[in-house]
Amino acid sequence: MSASERLHGQVAIVSGGASGIGLAVVDRFLAEGACVGVLDRQGGALGDLQAAWPERLVVVGGDVRDGAAHEAVLEATSQRFGAVDTYVANAGIHDMWTRLEDIPLDQLPGAFEELFAVDVLGYLLGARVMAGALRAAHGSMIFTASSSSRYAGGGGPLYVAAKHAVVGLVRQLAHELAPDVRVNAIAPGATSTGLSGLSDGEVGRGSLLDRPGLMDRVAETVPLGFVAEPGDHASLYVLLASADEAPFMTGTVLPSDGGLDVRRSGRHHRAQRVAGTIGAGGA
Ligand SMILES: NC(=O)c1ccc[n+]([C@@H]2O[C@H](COP(=O)([O-])OP(=O)(O)OC[C@H]3O[C@@H](n4cnc5c(N)ncnc54)[C@H](O)[C@@H]3O)[C@@H](O)[C@H]2O)c1
Repeated sequence: MSASERLHGQVAIVSGGASGIGLAVVDRFLAEGACVGVLDRQGGALGDLQAAWPERLVVVGGDVRDGAAHEAVLEATSQRFGAVDTYVANAGIHDMWTRLEDIPLDQLPGAFEELFAVDVLGYLLGARVMAGALRAAHGSMIFTASSSSRYAGGGGPLYVAAKHAVVGLVRQLAHELAPDVRVNAIAPGATSTGLSGLSDGEVGRGSLLDRPGLMDRVAETVPLGFVAEPGDHASLYVLLASADEAPFMTGTVLPSDGGLDVRRSGRHHRAQRVAGTIGAGGA
């Protein structure tokens, strides 16, 4: 074991681990000595990931809206590697900043159902399935929240409300699962990924990649002056996963957002000007 293997011998499951922030977490957990199970809907990317890490990774293709998919990744991971210590709930979609008044009334229920089913129900189903195993292992859950868990403007009302709901899940589950399981979240700010929009109806379709120059404009609203790469958040997930490094942390939401909380005292003139056109700092 190398001195830097902070998760040596641990087993983790990551949803949405085929790309973006989830993939960066998978890569870092593997580098820190963990074995990892990944649940994602992107079959091709999962195959590439499995080929790159044949020994310490298992992948399961499925939809986080399906409880059986979470059961399948738990079974595959524990059969291969033993007891599961950490569950990272991360798979998510965005509403592409669709404002309430731009959502046709007849499409609002469907858009709500799709976004909340992935971003909130998906986390709940995963937590429900993993809870018993994590209690037995005295492990931890880590949810990917967002700067939209705290601020307006990083999405439309569907995304911002869903990410606020994630904070409620963290608090309630930290309460219900104590003292056996620690439950925390990382709240990334704007991060350069291909985060997808909705796909079931006409509302909020596309991805962050469809908006050229978006990340440059968002960077203007961030006190540190740049948009994160997915790997910039990864060591915080390691911190929360480690019972040695964060034994007394539960119910917390750690921001990793370039300092949005101090925006008014920093680069606020530019931030206010840009936020007026594109919202407040990423997804
Ligand atoms: N990119 C940002 O600026 C940003 C900021 C804050 C929070 N987040 C959050 O980070 C998380 C990861 O997003 P990302 O930016 O890395 O985007 P991403 O699209 O690269 O990653 C999301 C992953 O989730 C998977 N996924 C989506 N819906 C799924 C479903 N129904 N079933 C199974 N897998 C599904 C996708 O295939 C993808 O691999 C999300 O929860 C997102 O809300 C992103």
